[in-house]
Amino acid sequence: MPKRSLLRSLPALAAAAVLLGLTSPAPAQDLGGDPDLGARVWRELSVCAECHGWAGDGVPDIPQFGGANLRETALTPELAYETIRCGRPGTSMPAFFRGAWSERIPCYGMTAPMERGVQPDAAATPLADRYIKAVVAFIFRDFAGQGPVTREYCESVFSNAARCSAYPPAAATPAAVAP
Ligand code: HEC
Repeated sequence: MPKRSLLRSLPALAAAAVLLGLTSPAPAQDLGGDPDLGARVWRELSVCAECHGWAGDGVPDIPQFGGANLRETALTPELAYETIRCGRPGTSMPAFFRGAWSERIPCYGMTAPMERGVQPDAAATPLADRYIKAVVAFIFRDFAGQGPVTREYCESVFSNAARCSAYPPAAATPAAVAP
C-alpha cells in the first residue's frame, strides 16, 4: 500500500478498532462531567474553538485551521473523551491529556510512538481529566445532535445580537431528522 494512503487510513483504522471493541476505551460509562464547566473550557480555557468553531460546527474561529463538525459527530461520549485525551492520529487534533500515549496512559490500546506525522501532537496547554470530562459533557449538551446553529443559540452565547443575524431563527431551521 502506498505510504500516503496508509497514513490516511490510520485514523479510520484506529476508530474502527475502538468501535469493534478491539481496544479498550477509557472505562468511563458515566463520565460525570459538568457541562457548565465544559462551556468555560470551550470558550475561555482552551483552544478548541480555533479549529472547531465557537459553535462546534467545524467552521473554525481561525480560518486556516479545520476541525470536525461536532454537531454531526457519530462518536459516543466515551470515544469523544478518548479522542480529546489522545488526539486523532494523522490529523491536527492534538492530545490534550499530559502523558497520553505512554505505558501508563495508552491510547486506542497503543503506547508506541507512531511514525512522524501520524502521532498526534501533544497540546501546548494540556487539560486535567476533570476539564476533559467537562468539555465532553458540554459537547453532548450543546453540539452533538443539536442540528445547525440557530440564532437563539448564538444569542445565548454572545451579548452582541448583531453578531448572530446570519444564523436562521430556530423555527426556520429544518427540524433535526428523527431517528
Ligand atoms: C489544531 C486544531 C484542533 C484543535 C485545537 C482541536 N481540535 Fe478537535 N479535531 C481536530 C481535527 C482535525 C479533528 C479530526 C477531524 C477528522 O477526523 O477528519 C478533530 C476531532 C475532534 C473530535 C472527534 C470528532 C468526531 O466526530 O470524530 C472531538 C470530540 C474533538 N476534536 C474535540 C476537541 C476539543 C474538546 C478540543 C479542545 C480541548 C479540540 N478538539 C481541539 C482539530 C482540532
